[in-house]
Amino acid sequence: MLQSALMNVMVKAARRAGRSLKRDLGEIENLQVSLKGPANFVSLADKRAEEMLYEDLIKARPGYGFIGEEGGTREGADKTHTWIVDPLDGTTNFLHGIPQFAISIGLRREDTIIAGLIYNPANDELYIAERGKGAFLNDQRLRVAGRRRLDDCVVACGLPHIGRGDHDLSRREMTEIQNRVAGLRRFGAASLDMAFVAAGRLDGYWERNLQAWDMAAGAILIKEAGGVVSCVDGQSDPLKTGNLICGNEYIHAELVKILRPLGK
Ligand code: IPD
Ligand code: CA
Ligand code: CA
Repeated sequence: MLQSALMNVMVKAARRAGRSLKRDLGEIENLQVSLKGPANFVSLADKRAEEMLYEDLIKARPGYGFIGEEGGTREGADKTHTWIVDPLDGTTNFLHGIPQFAISIGLRREDTIIAGLIYNPANDELYIAERGKGAFLNDQRLRVAGRRRLDDCVVACGLPHIGRGDHDLSRREMTEIQNRVAGLRRFGAASLDMAFVAAGRLDGYWERNLQAWDMAAGAILIKEAGGVVSCVDGQSDPLKTGNLICGNEYIHAELVKILRPLGK
């Protein structure tokens, strides 16, 4: 597959930071036995990965802005382009040595995401998409699943952490969906949940209270794989509201129909 210069930059940056995260994952397995656990170590791993991504992406595209989960917003001279980066999505998994985590890089031009990359260094799965050019997993073209009936579908959700979000609402949502689908999953890395929808592994996914860096890359992957991404209301931009529903057009519509009224 011929890759654009822009995507080359993104892939190189993700692979370098990914090597660092993979080394750190090995160390975490040793730290699990200590009573304190690897929490401080993980927060350093996270920051180190973000700095590597910042260095590589800004070196290749000087002037672009950069929004990272760890370092916040760093303005650039070019106000039209912004990198939106989560250096480690799925921190809780990473902390526990569960190999379901990823680097997520989105590039926004004006108000539109024009490129996205999600990379899980633990299993070397690399998902990329550029506007109008399709979505790929390690060179293989992606297409969302074609199922139309919820009771044939495997759907993923997020669960609010302790002290965050609306736990009652989350339980009501789960009950409604659980009663209608073949399987409900919670994997713990929003970017990969979206990548799985793009790859047709999951038929749908929803979660509330996400951040732009959790979704920027996933949103373009799903759109380029023929799927639909919206806020829980079925219309607004989830990157602005933080509430997300995605799937193929049929399953997305089914999920909106069930979940929209619950949040009111
Ligand atoms: C989290 C993960 C998780 C989702 C949380 C996110 P982090 O990101 O994507 O799956 O449920 O809402 O905050 O903190 O691991 O980067
Ligand atoms: Ca995240
Ligand atoms: Ca993160």
